Amino acid sequence: MSVVEIKQDIFCVGAKDWNLTEFHGYATPRGSTYNAYVVLDEKNVLIDGVKFAFSDENIERIKEVVSFSALDYIVVNHVEMDHSGNIPEIVRLAPQAKIVTNIAGKKALAEHFDTTGWSFKIVKTGDSISIGKKTLSFVTTPMLHWPDSMMTYIKEAKVLFSNDGFGQHYCTDTVFAAEANLDIVCSEAKKYYANILFPLAMQTNKALKTAYDMGLDIEMIAPSHGCIWNGKEEVATILDLYASWASGSNKGKAVVVYDTMWGSTETLADVAVGAFELAGIPVTKHCLTNSHISEVIVDFMDAEYVLIGSPTLNNELFPRVASFVTYMKGLQPKNKKAFAFGSYGWKSGVLKQVELVFDALGWEKLDALEVKYRPKSQELETMKNKVNELIDM
Ligand code: FEO
Repeated sequence: MSVVEIKQDIFCVGAKDWNLTEFHGYATPRGSTYNAYVVLDEKNVLIDGVKFAFSDENIERIKEVVSFSALDYIVVNHVEMDHSGNIPEIVRLAPQAKIVTNIAGKKALAEHFDTTGWSFKIVKTGDSISIGKKTLSFVTTPMLHWPDSMMTYIKEAKVLFSNDGFGQHYCTDTVFAAEANLDIVCSEAKKYYANILFPLAMQTNKALKTAYDMGLDIEMIAPSHGCIWNGKEEVATILDLYASWASGSNKGKAVVVYDTMWGSTETLADVAVGAFELAGIPVTKHCLTNSHISEVIVDFMDAEYVLIGSPTLNNELFPRVASFVTYMKGLQPKNKKAFAFGSYGWKSGVLKQVELVFDALGWEKLDALEVKYRPKSQELETMKNKVNELIDM
């Protein structure tokens, strides 16, 4: 990619990862980017690094804008390796530069790298550093996505460097959302939220409130993944989406997730889908043979009703269902009404494992529906009735 000046004297110098297909278990068919930024002023600043594999190209882009000997600050907003993987390389080239991070960031850097001899400037929410005509201000956003996460704001340029927040795993030929496909950008931002930030609604709300309380006037949000939100309208769009997602409200939809061995669990899933449709409830159906867990979880943001179906294999949950349930439990979707269903051959009871997860998540639930080998007509009727009972809960 070329260096792009996103605002006067502020340059995007990161890297595009067109070939990324997975980010710690999250399917990323549209690739991703690791956005890093250089800010020029009386003091020169690098905001974030990139994944180590992209270090050389990141370094070449930084050199196009500023020499390493003229770099005064290196802001580390987040220590996860996709943003700090090449920070040791940067420090080696610019040993005079101070690392600007928070206490948790300094600790995490030392837990990843040998930071002996590194010079730190520790900041917290509300702290500022003047770099000449511009001022860097900081908002710590713990757990968005790690304990060390923070955002950096430049009030004179009205730009928020939000790191993981408001990002998308989306690699395209432009750095700006408006020049990409805005529908895809929003949809990838939603997928990112569902797969990375879903359990962190409280922290997201807190960060949004802090930004509001600080009166940040934001004209541009420059995340470290995907496209930049440019202009008040786009900034409002993504802030409103985050506020809505973090509110935990759903759209009253239903999602049926299952896998199947010989079609019995799928037959039950189809009957459930039909019952939701008949009741006028929008429903999506995901067979885990075909749908990736990171796609399925997105539908949980809009779902009030969740059905999980599994055949019994070797007296256990079907492995793809077990994998999904583990993933779902970790992401902690809230406020669902649910039941489990499935078929077994000679030993019932495996669906208890799914029900324990419903309980751990604090969901309302109905008893599971288990059928022996093939669902009989009476059991198909029971499935319809259970869906209606769930809707009436
Ligand atoms: Fe993009 Fe939490 O790293």
